[in-house]
Amino acid sequence: MTQTPKMAVGIDDIAVHVPKLFISTLDEFARARGIEPAKLARGIGVERMAVPDAHEDAATMAASSALELMQKNDLLPEEVGRIYIGTESGVDEAKAIGTYVIGMLERVYGPGSFQECSTVEFKSACIATTHALENVAYWLKAEEDENDFGGSDCGSCQSRGHVGIVIATDVARYELNSPGEYTQGAGSVALLVKRDPRLLALDPSVGIFTRDENDFFRPIGMKCAVVNGKYSNLCYLAAMDGAFYSYKKRALGRGMIRLDAGECTTDHLSHIIFHIPYPRMAEYAAASIFRREWKDLPRWQEVEEEIGPEPRAEEYEGQKEYLSAEGDYKRRFSKSSKFLEAYGKKVKPSTLISSSVGNIYTGSIYLGLASLLEQSLLAPGERVGLGSYGSGCSATFFSGTVQAGVESMPKGILLKKLDERVEISLEDYRLLHEGERPDSVIRPSGEFGLIEIDQDGYRRYDFVG
Ligand code: CAA
Repeated sequence: MTQTPKMAVGIDDIAVHVPKLFISTLDEFARARGIEPAKLARGIGVERMAVPDAHEDAATMAASSALELMQKNDLLPEEVGRIYIGTESGVDEAKAIGTYVIGMLERVYGPGSFQECSTVEFKSACIATTHALENVAYWLKAEEDENDFGGSDCGSCQSRGHVGIVIATDVARYELNSPGEYTQGAGSVALLVKRDPRLLALDPSVGIFTRDENDFFRPIGMKCAVVNGKYSNLCYLAAMDGAFYSYKKRALGRGMIRLDAGECTTDHLSHIIFHIPYPRMAEYAAASIFRREWKDLPRWQEVEEEIGPEPRAEEYEGQKEYLSAEGDYKRRFSKSSKFLEAYGKKVKPSTLISSSVGNIYTGSIYLGLASLLEQSLLAPGERVGLGSYGSGCSATFFSGTVQAGVESMPKGILLKKLDERVEISLEDYRLLHEGERPDSVIRPSGEFGLIEIDQDGYRRYDFVG
């Protein structure tokens, strides 16, 4: 049995901006790097990576997704009280990226149109947007609680700034020829956050895990991340596990989820969207959490019948032998029919768009939500779990309940748009990656563009008609 919150605040709509350019990982790229295409398709799960053109950066992508969100919802600037942005590829060390975004939006809506909208840039690696979302939700709840002093202009006060826009925007960039290279990508996701949302009402229980780690970081001035790849996978899994059990404790403790005999918490989540640096990582996270969830339940017997019992440390000569057996068991569990069924139903569909866009860092989890929406997989009343991870490291596990409005939301448009992108050559990809191509591969049209960065660092953006 599941309970839903009394006052619904959450995600009303999503707009995604992905660069028009992409590189296929399976052809020229795989040959040039001497990698079997099957490794990238199955071992990593990425077939295409979005590549930002010369006129694009985190700010232009954020402005593009925000504009699309506003236009499709007929939103007026004065209705937007907050534009909070999560990014780990910000364009300035001091000036908030949101001021550039507001500057660009005002080129469409008129000068000063967003002057009563506040903006903050959140940085916490890939979890930043989740913190931004949480803060906008708190702001909306606080506004709801505010006393109405009965002033004469109260009606119009309430219609001003009554929604928030949360934007995730990132360019995931690693060194050429590094193992991180095939997990790059770029894009932006804008979320309309409001009371009585059409799509997903956020639940009150949130699980958190934080620990100081150096799995992935980007020192000031560096264009590419410093990453200890395999270790970052382990940090992700440990943090996700910690955040999930923190969520579970809180959700069960407050009676938001109630378990019948033989049930576990994930049985009450119709979909689970894990942070998707590459689709395979979501599979590792699912295997780790389902295995721990199922271990004490009657269904574990079925798993053991198929793959045998878990290795026990005392049965092995040393730690090394035990860890090797444990690694082997982990692989067997992730191929077991019980896991494959749960993974295929609850987790895999959220990775669809990421497999053709790549990592968009702080937006990837919300791209997962867009994947479910685009495939018409969300039904009213379903509970969706979201596991957000940020290197460094921290994780947050939270959930939301799908609202009735989902049924009237358009679907399939983004998937169609992704099909219309243009594949570029490996040489154009290299030039764009290294910042050696001054002109755009496709001249910007009907979109925001970075026009110039002058010698003093002034950035000039415009809406190119
Ligand atoms: N066919 C099918 N599968 C194959 C294969 C083939 N021919 N060849 C290899 N594989 C499989 C491997 O067996 C492996 O799968 P298993 O784990 O099931 O064994 C899988 O492909 C990956 O291969 P490797 O183990 O050789 O890993 P790699 O050297 O390619 O590195 C990586 C992978 C560590 C993710 C690297 O791409 C990387 O550093 N990426 C950037 C960091 C990252 O994304 N970390 C994720 C956690 S941190 C985070 O989430 C924050 C963030 O957004 C960055």
